[in-house]
Amino acid sequence: MTSTLRHKNYCLKGSSELCMCSYSNPSTFMMKNNMYLTGFDGVEIHGANGYLIDQFLKDQVNDRTDNYGGSLENRCRFPLEILEAVVDEVGADKVGMRLSPYANYMEAVDSNPEELGLYMANALNKFGILYLHVIEPRMVKANDIYETPHSLLPMKNAFEGTFIAAGGYRRDDGNKAIAENYADLVAFGRLFLANPDLPKRFELNAPLNRYNRNTFYIPDPVVGYTDYPFLDVLA
Ligand SMILES: Cc1cc2nc3c(=O)[nH]c(=O)nc-3n(C[C@H](O)[C@H](O)[C@H](O)COP(=O)(O)O)c2cc1C
Repeated sequence: MTSTLRHKNYCLKGSSELCMCSYSNPSTFMMKNNMYLTGFDGVEIHGANGYLIDQFLKDQVNDRTDNYGGSLENRCRFPLEILEAVVDEVGADKVGMRLSPYANYMEAVDSNPEELGLYMANALNKFGILYLHVIEPRMVKANDIYETPHSLLPMKNAFEGTFIAAGGYRRDDGNKAIAENYADLVAFGRLFLANPDLPKRFELNAPLNRYNRNTFYIPDPVVGYTDYPFLDVLA
């Protein structure tokens, strides 16, 4: 496969034009080296939660009028070009992608997240990447029950690799999602942050440390990321 990113640099300059110039910075090459140097097994392309790639995907924030805005195909072009470049560099078996079609962080909203999610799931199949990691639609409380009209199942069914679901899972409903074939794997965020030995605790069905929201996203003081106790320390 030929990579578009290999030949072009992309930048957003506050204008609606996507600026492209000759490729001079071997960043995908550096990424490959960094991946091996740091001992990582692969690269997850972050196309979720309102960051740059997600801003291209979502029709309520992407107001471009060129080949990277407007139609679904155009909005997905930049994310897929990035994917192609990374796959070319490190191999499809070492690449995953994270998406959040239903999220609305940083005004990155789509009017038809089902269609967007399905389009991306199908498009990713062409690259044969290892996994697709998708954040659940937010639950809304109705009559004391948390529920959502949306489901990741159509995306799961469309995607041919390993499908990971994330967002609001605990041990019981994580197990249920796997048992019901709703996902191949479940990712945990806040529970893992507060429980460095989360797999062990799940295995033992041991009690969990509670996470402290006040220390989320704070760089200073550096607390709440690496200082939650392990089970052994508690015992
Ligand atoms: C402190 C903190 C930092 C996070 N940082 C990121 C981030 O940089 N990028 C991202 O996509 N999600 C980030 N998340 C979201 C998590 O990856 C995850 O999707 C979210 O917590 C929902 O999963 P959970 O219910 O298991 O926590 C962060 C979450 C927390 C609590």
